[in-house]
Amino acid sequence: MSYETIEVETHDRVGLIRLNRPQALNALNALLISEVDCALTGFEKDDGIGCVVVTGSEKAFAAGADIKEMKDKSFSEAFLGDFIGRWDTVARVRKPIVAAVAGFALGGGCELAMMCDFIIAADTAQFGQPEIKIGVIPGAGGTQRLTRAVGKAKAMDLVLTGRMMGAEEAERAGLVARVVPAADLVAEALKAGAAIAAMSLPAALMAKEAVNAAFETTLIEGVRYERRLFYSLFATEDQKEGMAAFVEKRKPAFRNR
Ligand code: CAA
Repeated sequence: MSYETIEVETHDRVGLIRLNRPQALNALNALLISEVDCALTGFEKDDGIGCVVVTGSEKAFAAGADIKEMKDKSFSEAFLGDFIGRWDTVARVRKPIVAAVAGFALGGGCELAMMCDFIIAADTAQFGQPEIKIGVIPGAGGTQRLTRAVGKAKAMDLVLTGRMMGAEEAERAGLVARVVPAADLVAEALKAGAAIAAMSLPAALMAKEAVNAAFETTLIEGVRYERRLFYSLFATEDQKEGMAAFVEKRKPAFRNR
């Protein structure tokens, strides 16, 4: 499959999607979103893939939704066309997705990173929701996911002033899982991806589902849901293999069943 706005590679069991519209700082236009959708759907169906990494360039993960593409839309074109609705695939993918962010992750770029399961940031990363500066507000989950990640005070600060937040501040605030030197970003993200992809796939999918449930439900329901999933994993061969390997002091050989 050949793409115009992204590059797609596989590294053993890790799928890598590199956003590639350098002339527009990876601004997210309809073609790019549909290509990301297509690549993710392919990785989701591919038994040989256990984790996906999404990255951009050194200068920009993505500088937001494509302002030039959307600026002339009428209300009814925006509302009825629901062009942001097409981004939801990223949040619906069941396999783990790591965002590897260097440079600008602004507006829809920050929102795309937050749709992934966690963010590894280069020390050059700059996060922000600057939509207010162009007369709108975040439209791909920014007011919701950013608030859940960093709390109300910092989310309000970023969404209302449109200022950028560097990698260190983002890590302190809980938006970012770890910060690494820019030169090591993709290698570190692929390493994390490979570690995840080496786990039992059913366990990884359930772990992701259970953590995400924490944002959707009450504590008591979430704990109950987690326990159901935990017990259900005893029906897998991988649970038997994982625990036997521990007792026998060897590496487990998971078969994703
Ligand atoms: N959409 C379309 N084109 C964009 C873009 C965007 N979001 N961001 C950057 N570009 C383009 C610029 O227009 C420019 O193209 P030309 O050379 O053809 O003029 C090129 O990328 C390089 O950009 P700059 O010259 O501006 O680069 P810079 O280094 O001086 O500034 C920047 C970098 C601070 C990121 C600046 O480009 C910027 O502020 N970009 C817009 C950020 C933004 O407002 N994002 C939110 C978009 S709205 C949104 O995302 C809605 C949503 O929630 C879904």
